[in-house]
Amino acid sequence: MGTIRKVLVTGGAGYIGSVAARLLLRAGYAVVVVDNLYQGHRAAVPPQAHWARVDLADKNALRAVFAQHPDVDAVMHFAAYTLVGESMAQPLKYLRDNLVNACNLLEVMLEHGVLRFILSSTANLFDLPPEHQDQPITEEFPIIPGSPYGESKFFVERVLHWLHRTHGLKYVSLRYFNAAGALPDCGEDHDPETHLIPLVLQVALGQRSHITIFGDDYPTRDGTCVRDYIHVADLAQAHILALEALDTLGARHYNLGNGTGYTVKEVIETARRITGHPIPAVIGPRRPGDPAVLVASSERIRRELGWAPQYPDLESIVRSAWEWHRAHPNGYED
Ligand code: UFG
Repeated sequence: MGTIRKVLVTGGAGYIGSVAARLLLRAGYAVVVVDNLYQGHRAAVPPQAHWARVDLADKNALRAVFAQHPDVDAVMHFAAYTLVGESMAQPLKYLRDNLVNACNLLEVMLEHGVLRFILSSTANLFDLPPEHQDQPITEEFPIIPGSPYGESKFFVERVLHWLHRTHGLKYVSLRYFNAAGALPDCGEDHDPETHLIPLVLQVALGQRSHITIFGDDYPTRDGTCVRDYIHVADLAQAHILALEALDTLGARHYNLGNGTGYTVKEVIETARRITGHPIPAVIGPRRPGDPAVLVASSERIRRELGWAPQYPDLESIVRSAWEWHRAHPNGYED
């Protein structure tokens, strides 16, 4: 027990981790960012954070960071390979590396007596059969990973379960649905970009000719996949609430989304309205690993932690992303 003052954030140069690092600093925590810059950007790390370029495969480098910051009280673990589609083509990159890197981190934490952990988990745990697709997904739904990516996150959840039992690790796993949106100084910049909203906005910026819709023959209202988009700042806020409740929670899983699903076509339509650009779309084949419908029930985290999203609607999420992309047409290269 004790007060949490310093938080180590892996993947803190990435899209979600860099927003969480900012919100932690604003809430008065000290922050140590660890990132290998595989997808992250040095410019995304807040200047007030301590910074270490470290790959989680390198346990000794990680030990040096913990030795340099013996006052770290908790870890938020964002660093991982995160692409559903890529994981279907390169399963071992996900099944092995996401697991091994998380185990390395946890091993070094235990060596240093750090026993508080928050995991970025995923909605890809819930590739449910059609009879389940009418209701929002609660934490009680069966775990059926949709891809090696989702499976790798499930592996890590199981590791946490056992370290809770064997070592008293306190952890919260936050199963995000589709992170989207931006802060004015912190947005989504992947290379290559694979996510729907930034790709659609790149069409609006004239950087791409069109968006390809991955399949229009799903059993949904317009045939395209339904997703629950959640603003990255609301996600980051959930991490802070989880951190503050960690000592009393012990071990918890929360699904995190707004509880409203939008089809791929509805996302494109929203972006057309916001940007005023026609955003041409063509239909392509399905992308392997994509579940048809993913909509969260976040009742548990609302009830237990008082989480309340500030951006509950797609319009405000896409608008915040558009403002960032317009101001940073080349991402962090500016
Ligand atoms: N899509 C397209 N065309 C594109 C890109 C995406 O039609 O060019 C579709 C996808 O098929 C999917 C939807 O838009 O139906 C959203 O796709 P994203 O790639 O933006 O997001 P995902 O749903 O694949 O993945 C995100 C996170 C994962 C997480 C997953 C859980 O990136 O880490 O949500 O659903 F596991």
